[in-house]
Amino acid sequence: STLTTVAADLIEYNTMHLACQADRLITLTQESDIEPAVAELDKLGAPVFVLSGGSNVILPEALHASVLHPAYKGIEVLAEDANSITLEVMGGENWHELVVYTVNQGWYGLENLALIPGLVGASPVQNIGAYGVQLEDYMTHVKAFHLPTQTWHNFDKADCQFSYRDSIFKQQAGQWLITRVGFKLHKDALKVNANYGDVSSLALAKAQAEKRSAISAKDVMQAIIEIRQSKLPDPKQLPNCGSFFKNPIIDNGQFTTLSAKYPNIVGYPVGNEHTKVAAGWLIDNAGLKGKGIAPILTHKKQALVLVNHSTADSSTPASQHDILATQQLIQQTIQDQFGVALEREPVWVNNEARH
Ligand code: EPU
Repeated sequence: STLTTVAADLIEYNTMHLACQADRLITLTQESDIEPAVAELDKLGAPVFVLSGGSNVILPEALHASVLHPAYKGIEVLAEDANSITLEVMGGENWHELVVYTVNQGWYGLENLALIPGLVGASPVQNIGAYGVQLEDYMTHVKAFHLPTQTWHNFDKADCQFSYRDSIFKQQAGQWLITRVGFKLHKDALKVNANYGDVSSLALAKAQAEKRSAISAKDVMQAIIEIRQSKLPDPKQLPNCGSFFKNPIIDNGQFTTLSAKYPNIVGYPVGNEHTKVAAGWLIDNAGLKGKGIAPILTHKKQALVLVNHSTADSSTPASQHDILATQQLIQQTIQDQFGVALEREPVWVNNEARH
């Protein structure tokens, strides 16, 4: 067998920097590596787990699985006309590098998703979203390998069953290895989305500094890079996995009651009957910003992000148990104070349901 059993240390493969030992680590450099590797693991009876950029997972201390790590690269133009371009991007490409590349080519749409960590193949899993744009707004299709049946599948957008931070790939966690993601982007730079928070004023300042009156996609991208850098911790300096909870969606009646008691509470309408509440605001206003159970604390500048402080003094690395302690403290506090249930956002990995 070419797949020798060498325990793999995954601490450097997850941006939360949690201790994790897996049975093996197999880097897939070509799409054609997948079928033989999965078939051989199947013969050995070894369960498999897909680890992409490791920026949205909470790994267990011992992962009894062979880890597949996508590293296949490439960007192909599938179709192009005067107004738009359709691309197909290999799953091992870095997400942020793709955003910068497309904006520099004059292909617009992904600029609001700048600086999101991780790889392209993981982007559909949680339907990544930021500053008023979600992946589903520009994604056209996905090619993926179904691990339990060892078969290839093509998904159009509807097949992905996207909703806020969710998709069929997240619902069927562990079953899919996404190899290609398609995007349809605009060539019209003026179709920018700058309606979120400070984005438009910051982007406009950038345009005006160059004596332009209209905001360009590059202005939006640069504004978003600045906003993210000002409040979201860089995983290389402070290990984290981005927002740790989803923004909870509650009914308008409950939001009205909460607003009466907390006039500054932040919420956005969802349909006619619901409101999406800023979980960061709830955690912050419960007095938990920068707090938690050491070494896992909420970030000082964005309470929705949990950061791992254990590496700074190079003591014992933090593990999944440490995350759970702080998660439960926050969920209990928010439930007691606001009557709102917070749902974890990153994928929680355990040793059940492996294929
Ligand atoms: N807020 C506070 N205190 C805090 C954090 C936030 O009062 O400690 C308030 C802010 O002042 C603002 C509101 O809450 O009024 C929303 O905050 P922010 O704009 O930072 O966005 P968010 O709702 O906390 C979501 C995404 C982020 C994404 C931003 C920008 C989720 C779970 N998170 O956060 O995504 O970057 O919007 O679009 O939807 C991620 O998924 O990893 C992520 C970082």
